[in-house]
Amino acid sequence: MSGFKLTYSTMFSPPRELHTRFAKAVDSLAEEFGKRHGLFINGGDVHKEAVTAKSDPADQDRTLGEFSLADETDVDTAVMAARRAYPAWRGTPWQQRVAILKKVAGLVEERLYDIAAAVSFEVGKNRMEALGEVAEVVEFCNLYARQMEENNGYDRVLPDDPLPDFKSHNRSVLKPYGVWAVVAPFNYPFALAGGPVAAALVAGNTVVLKGAVETPWSGQLLAQCIKDAGVPDGVFNYLVGEGATVGDALIRHDGIDGVTFTGSYEVGMHIGRSQWARAFPRPCIAEMGGKNAVIVTAAADLAVAAQGIVRSAFGMSGQKCSALSRIYVDARVADGLIGQLRIAMRNIKIGDPRQEDTWMGPVATAKAYGNFEKYCAALRTQGASILEGGATLRAAGLERGFFCAPTLAEAPLEHPLWAEEMFVPVVMLGRVESPGQAMALANGSKFGLTAGFYGSDAEVEWFFANIEAGVTYANRPQGATTGAWPGYQPFGGWKGSGSTGKALASFHYLPQYMREQSQTHI
Ligand code: SER
Repeated sequence: MSGFKLTYSTMFSPPRELHTRFAKAVDSLAEEFGKRHGLFINGGDVHKEAVTAKSDPADQDRTLGEFSLADETDVDTAVMAARRAYPAWRGTPWQQRVAILKKVAGLVEERLYDIAAAVSFEVGKNRMEALGEVAEVVEFCNLYARQMEENNGYDRVLPDDPLPDFKSHNRSVLKPYGVWAVVAPFNYPFALAGGPVAAALVAGNTVVLKGAVETPWSGQLLAQCIKDAGVPDGVFNYLVGEGATVGDALIRHDGIDGVTFTGSYEVGMHIGRSQWARAFPRPCIAEMGGKNAVIVTAAADLAVAAQGIVRSAFGMSGQKCSALSRIYVDARVADGLIGQLRIAMRNIKIGDPRQEDTWMGPVATAKAYGNFEKYCAALRTQGASILEGGATLRAAGLERGFFCAPTLAEAPLEHPLWAEEMFVPVVMLGRVESPGQAMALANGSKFGLTAGFYGSDAEVEWFFANIEAGVTYANRPQGATTGAWPGYQPFGGWKGSGSTGKALASFHYLPQYMREQSQTHI
């Protein structure tokens, strides 16, 4: 085996070895199909009678496995296990927690291809997206471990009191909260479980993770890495269940002390409110949706803009929270941009996400498939029209999966779908008269996750100064609004896209899992 490592740069120029190893992992994964998987509570697998039979979104006839479903009693058992494990984990020197987290990173890296193959089958994402998602967890773990080291475990000596007769010694220490609930989304079931879990654990919290019913496998694979790295029993627990029942029971449980949620705006707002409707407030890190916009001015390089737009609107079939869904283009160059987009969209290779040349797989769920049809129908009303795509795909080889054509629609600026997060491969285009009008429209959303810009260099600072979004990109061919990589582009939302404005994989993220204690003694 060579020393090749999957990093931000190798993601964009993958060597042959990556493809060989991924294909091998896909072949060996076939032996796993159909197996039964339990929940993971207090260090052991817990098998339930209630299961979900998870199938491949690219081929509904392929059952990936049977996954146990938690009920409210399991929530209680998991939270109580995490509570019991908390004092010892909190008391473990932070250097030891760092060492264990590095071990988790090492195991995820060792199993990168096997986990990515499972993620690809579970969500329908292509190999680079799947490998990237797993590699992100390696980065998150190493980053948070490094931040603990660089900050001496967030334990800092402050100046002594300047009073000669009362010479107090002062210290500021960040300490964990207790039991942390992490609710992960279906679109990044490994990375958006692994990132928050890594931060919570290294900070000294114990964790109950809830995975989505649509994507139960990733959390299991994460649980195995955590267990094999030597994380003590009860420190990490994994449940699968519906948000409305199991998720709700978890975030309402008196035994938790903080929540990280990634998912829809509606659920995030509901969780946020519930954390304050108590005797005292609980911290809630909610990463919610997006309705991400790009502004294209008359000075833009349209070929570069089209490349970035297509990657961001249709990568992972439009199911990234960072996905691009609104294009505001200067009316003078709109036809030119549409022409470039059509060319780029016709080159998209759609199919089995495990194939090397597939760029776009299916949408992940039957619900998204239905939504796609619903949105395409709506984009043929109220003055809107579909310029490219607009149908589900049923050609040979695609008929058993949730495949959708990448879709570009032009719509009047008052069309209701400008305000609705769709989470399918559909992007809307509107013609504007000026950059100022484009900015007002881009910011006229309750969301503020990612945003993009194509125009002259002179306009870039204006864009950064005025755009209301947490993750912003200018003149970037590899993605108008997507493709943040830990350590390079911190990732977090403003407004209705994120509750704290502190981005995943930034310097500011990890301290949110701790509370400050000021310590003074004479
Ligand atoms: N890291 C992903 C992106 O930036 C998250 O959605 O696109």
